[in-house]
Amino acid sequence: MITFDYTNVLESAVGTHGIPESLFTAAEGSAQRAVEAIDLAHREGKLGFANLPLAEKPVADVVAFAREHAFKNIVILGIGGSALGPAALESALARPSASRKLVVLDNIDPDFIAGTLEALNPADTFVNIIAKSGVTAETMATFAIVRKWMNDALGSARLRERFAVTTDPEKGDLLAIARQERFPTFEIPRNIGGRFSILTPVGTLPAALLGLDVEAMMRGAAETAAQSRKPLAENPALASAFVQWILDHQFRKSILVLFPYSQALWKFAFWFKQLWGESLGKKFDRRQNEVHSGQTPTAALGVTDQHSQLQLFIEGPNDKSFLFWSVREFQDSLKIEHPYNALDSMSYLSGRTLQDLFSAERQATEMAITEAGRPNSTITIDKVDEAAMGSLIMFSQYTTAYAGEFYDINAFDQPGVEYGKKLTFCLMDRPGFEEFRPRIEAERRKERKIVR
Ligand code: PA5
Repeated sequence: MITFDYTNVLESAVGTHGIPESLFTAAEGSAQRAVEAIDLAHREGKLGFANLPLAEKPVADVVAFAREHAFKNIVILGIGGSALGPAALESALARPSASRKLVVLDNIDPDFIAGTLEALNPADTFVNIIAKSGVTAETMATFAIVRKWMNDALGSARLRERFAVTTDPEKGDLLAIARQERFPTFEIPRNIGGRFSILTPVGTLPAALLGLDVEAMMRGAAETAAQSRKPLAENPALASAFVQWILDHQFRKSILVLFPYSQALWKFAFWFKQLWGESLGKKFDRRQNEVHSGQTPTAALGVTDQHSQLQLFIEGPNDKSFLFWSVREFQDSLKIEHPYNALDSMSYLSGRTLQDLFSAERQATEMAITEAGRPNSTITIDKVDEAAMGSLIMFSQYTTAYAGEFYDINAFDQPGVEYGKKLTFCLMDRPGFEEFRPRIEAERRKERKIVR
C-alpha cells in the first residue's frame, strides 16, 4: 500500500514557503474535475495507461514467450520511454547476482555500443527492439549494428530466434522490418505514449525475460489505479499532483528533487524524470496561452547525496520541492557486528542494523530540510517487490496525468522532442525533412564565438 505524507509541505511545518491547509479544502472541486477528466479520457479510449492491468492477454503472452526464451543477456535497443522503464524495473527488482542481465543500449555513443557488444557473447544474448514510433534514429541505427553483430556470429538463419520487436500495432518501419524478418512482435497500444508505456510489453516483456513476476506487478498497479480514482482526501496520487503543482505555481518551487532512500529505486528516478519533465514541460496551455509550464525534475540518492547535494538543498536557493521515496522493509537488514566497542564512533553501531542507520539518516535529512523551510513530502512503500513497483508506476502516471490537469496543459504530447527528431533526420539527409534545411543552413552560417 502506497502512502503519501504531505505534513512537511504545509505552512505549519515550513512557514511562508508552505501551503496553508485551507488550500486543500479549496482544491476539492478542481481535484474532482481532474479525476473526472482523466477517467473520461480513459472511457473514451483517448488514454490507456490505467486500463493496462486489466488486460490479461498481453501479460499472458509475454509470460509464455519468456518461458520459451531463457537467455543470459537481454539487450534492449530503445531510448526514452522505450528504455528507461525496463532499466528501472531491472535495477529495482533483479538481484545483482541474478543469472540474467539486462543491457540497455539507449545511448548511441559509438564507444559505448562497441565496448558493450565486445563484452557480450551473441550466443547467450536475446535482443528486444523497442520503439513506439518505429522510426527513431538511435534505435534504428543500433538495430542495424546489433543485427550485423548477431548475423556475423550466428548466421542469418538464427536471427529470428534472437530478436523480438515491441512497437505500434499498425504503423512504423520497425513493424515492417519485423514482418519481413518474421521477428515476433509485441504491441504498444495506440492510446499509450512512450513514457506511459512501462506496463505494456515495453516493460513487461523485459521483466518477464528477466524472470520477474509480471502478474504481481499488474496486481499492484490495478490496486493503485482503483485508489487513484477516489476523492482528494483518499487519493495519494491526486494529493501529490496538487502539492507539486501548487508549490510550483504559487510558491515558485520550480525544481522537483526526487530523493529515493533506496538504491533499488535509483533508476526509477530516471524513469520518473522523463515522465514528469516531458509531460509537464509545455510552452502552451490548452487555451494556447504561452505558459512555459513544468517543474524541472532532478534526482538525489539517499544517503549518497547527503554528502554531495544536501548542503545546497538546505542553505542554497529555496526554489525546490523535495519528494522522498521511502521503503519500510529491506530484504536484508544487515546486522552490524564488530570488536571495536572501545571506540565511540563504532560502539553505538554495535548490534544495530544498516537498515536502522539508513532510516535514521533519512529522518535526519527530512528534519534538516524541513527546519530550513524547504517543503518536502514522502511516498512510502512497504518493500521493493513486483507489486510495489506496479503500484509506484501507476501512482506516478496518475500523479503526472493529474498534474497536467492542474496546469491545464496537454501532458500526453511532446512537440519539443519531435522537433529535435525532425532536425536530426534533416541533418542526416533523410528524405521528407527538407523543410528544415534553411534553419540548419542559417545555424551553420552563424558566426561562432569560441575561446581557445
Ligand atoms: O515519451 C515519448 O513519447 C518519447 O520520449 C519517446 O519515449 C522517445 O522519444 C522514444 O520514442 P520511440 O519509442 O518512438 O523510439
